[in-house]
This record gives sequence, C-alpha cells and structure tokens, in this order.
Amino acid sequence: MKIIDTKTGKRIGNTTELDDKAIKKKLKEEDPILRNADKDQNLEEFSAMDPPDAYSKQHTIGSSYELYHPFIKELMDEHKELNEKIESFDKALSGFKESGYQFTKEIIDSFNEFFTFFDNHIQPHNEKEEKHFFRILHERLLESGEHSPDEENPNSAVQLMEDDHNKFIQLATLSFNMLGLATRLPDLNSRGITFDLAYNNGRELVELLKLHIYREDEILFPLAHELLKDEDYHQLT
Ligand SMILES: [Fe+2]
Ligand SMILES: [Fe+2]
Repeated sequence: MKIIDTKTGKRIGNTTELDDKAIKKKLKEEDPILRNADKDQNLEEFSAMDPPDAYSKQHTIGSSYELYHPFIKELMDEHKELNEKIESFDKALSGFKESGYQFTKEIIDSFNEFFTFFDNHIQPHNEKEEKHFFRILHERLLESGEHSPDEENPNSAVQLMEDDHNKFIQLATLSFNMLGLATRLPDLNSRGITFDLAYNNGRELVELLKLHIYREDEILFPLAHELLKDEDYHQLT
C-alpha cells in the first residue's frame, strides 16, 4: 500500500466521505501497486513495492507497534487521543446540522474543546513530525526509490503529509471563522449558508485527519521503521 504513486508522482486516494472501512476500501481500489501486484510468494517481509492487502489482519502493516522506536510509538499514541477528539467533533458537527444549526451548550462545548485541542495538541504534534522526522524520512525514502519519477526534484510521501498538515490549518481556520461569522449575521438565509460552509469545512477536516492518521500509522511509520537507522533516531530524541 502506498501514499504516492511512484510512476505518476500523484497522491493515491482522495478525502471525501471516508470512514475507516471506506478508507481501506478506497486505498485498496485506487492503489495501482495493489491492483497490479506481482508478489514473490517467497518473500517473508513486506517491501514498499510489495505491499500487503489492506483488508488482511494477518498482513496489516502498522501492527508492529511494540517493535517501533519510542519516538514513533509516541506519535501513534497521540493519534489515538486525536482520533477520540475527531469522533467527538464529528458527532457535534452532525448534531449541529441535524438541529438546523442550533447551538446547544453541548455543541458549543464540543466545538470549543476540539478547536482548543487543535491549537494545543494537533499543531504541536504536526510540528514534531515535521521538525526532524519528516526531513530524515524524506531522505531515506529517496534513497530507497520511494519517490515521484522526477529525478531532479523528486517528491516523497513526506511532502504529501506536509501538504495535509497545511490543509488542516486552512480547514480548521475556515470552519472556526465561519461559525463565528454566521452567529453575527442577522439575515437568516445568509446565516444558513455560512453555517453550511462551516459544517462542510469541518467535515472535510474530519475526513482528511482520519485519512492522514491512517496513512501515517499504516504506511508511513512502518516505512520509517524499515528505513530509519540508529543514527537517525539519535537526531530525533
Ligand atoms: Fe502528520
Ligand atoms: Fe501524525
């Protein structure tokens, strides 16, 4: 399973309407390596070019948590906490829309909790990934051939993950600001349209976060475990 198509340099999969099952299905359907895999049956270990079936529990990469370096374990632990916050925010968004965009205390508290968590935890988490880990992993991915076909300026999955981090900020800012703006609009029609925008940006953020976390846990971190060397980890701690 791959994040970037090494033949076209394009991202695999998009981020609309995805739950965990849909993410796995989508990655399976859209992954050209999976569709065309010509596996060597004698291989015992997975390589980036010979990925496991996303549906197979037995072959799920990312299931080697105990083997990972503490730095990667810490990122995965933070993902678990983040997933819980995403679920709460997602439920609050759905309730908000279903109620015809009525603010209840519960919904206000959920929104506040999520956006505070975004600033205080999601942003620092992303910065921790970007600071050294992504830079080093990018170099190791290039060395191993896991990059786009442009040899002069090759992209790796790391750039796609960094793009996601930037999109999180844009979507969170849009959703938060639209919620605030809508409450100040006297015209009910304009208010409804603005709440719709806030809702849609929030939903997009939820889906992108879920897919991003899935890709890091199941693809990027197992690759890092395979490719990073002891001296790389020394730079991270
Ligand atoms: Fe990330
Ligand atoms: Fe992450």
